[in-house]
Amino acid sequence: MKKILLSGVKPTGRPHIGNYFGAMKQFVDLQDDYESRIFIADFHAITSMNNGEELRQSVVDLILDYLAIGLNPEKVTLFKQSDIPEVTELSWIFSCITTMPYLMRAHAFKDAEAKNKDINVGVFNYPVLMSADILLSDADVVPVGKDQKQHVEIARDTAEKFNRIYGETFKMPKDMILSEVATVPGIDGQKMSKSYKNTIPLFATDEEIRTAVMKIPTDSLGISDSKDPDKSIIYQIHSLVLDEQKKHDLRKKFVEGGVGYKDLKEQLIQDLIGFIKPLREKREELSKDIDRVMDVLKDGKIKIRKIVEQKMDEVRQKVGVKLY
Ligand code: TRP
Repeated sequence: MKKILLSGVKPTGRPHIGNYFGAMKQFVDLQDDYESRIFIADFHAITSMNNGEELRQSVVDLILDYLAIGLNPEKVTLFKQSDIPEVTELSWIFSCITTMPYLMRAHAFKDAEAKNKDINVGVFNYPVLMSADILLSDADVVPVGKDQKQHVEIARDTAEKFNRIYGETFKMPKDMILSEVATVPGIDGQKMSKSYKNTIPLFATDEEIRTAVMKIPTDSLGISDSKDPDKSIIYQIHSLVLDEQKKHDLRKKFVEGGVGYKDLKEQLIQDLIGFIKPLREKREELSKDIDRVMDVLKDGKIKIRKIVEQKMDEVRQKVGVKLY
């Protein structure tokens, strides 16, 4: 029996290669080793997004992105959080065994409070909803970024508390911190991030790739000079799309000298195109038949509801809301 892996992704705009190598790709790499369930966390998204049209579009974009990079619906159950009413039902039940002081200690809440924003109850309850996602699915492992580690701990606490009050019901999930294989540098050398405007989009056109690479700053070393690959943005970005042998060869070119930045950039452009173009074309292909893509989510919904039904019934029974 394979272990159950569960993770949610919030739709948050167009992904770049930093997102891909930092996190997205790992879902694809893990899909054979686990019974994987990946969902679009649209109910989490609306804690900070109030535009229906925008959300709908983001959800469609997100599922296209993940199918394009190779998540295979035959192996992974892909679904949309809001399609599973049991999750919000369980979230309410968890709300009733979770104290306010406990949730006030959560980092995300404290950050929001420090920024002095008007904090909605959804933001406050965010970890409770996430606990419901995780525990309802009987997840063994929950791959998340470092920033989400505490949320998985909250899910464990919630499981413990429920089990203590109502009897053994939920499994203890473990986090699996997505190794930042790469803090992928952006084209200015800072961490690649939308807010720094230094990204290479994951589905960039050839032109966008070229423009981005051309902007990478270089020092004044000449063609024949030896260059330090580990200090070069060009090398660091390039190494993401190379196998070990090719990485080795490229390092040699840097160290031995004889190749100028113009050529090094040109080679980077070609290899980025080689990597991105097939993904972009797959995505374009998929987007021509949105109905089929929606069928993936609809199938996922049917599959996952069947799975969680029994657990939810057990919860209703234990809590005492089930009479017949
Ligand atoms: N909060 C997560 C994030 O922002 C997304 C998420 C929602 C999630 N529910 C989850 C992740 C359950 C793992 C398991 O990235």
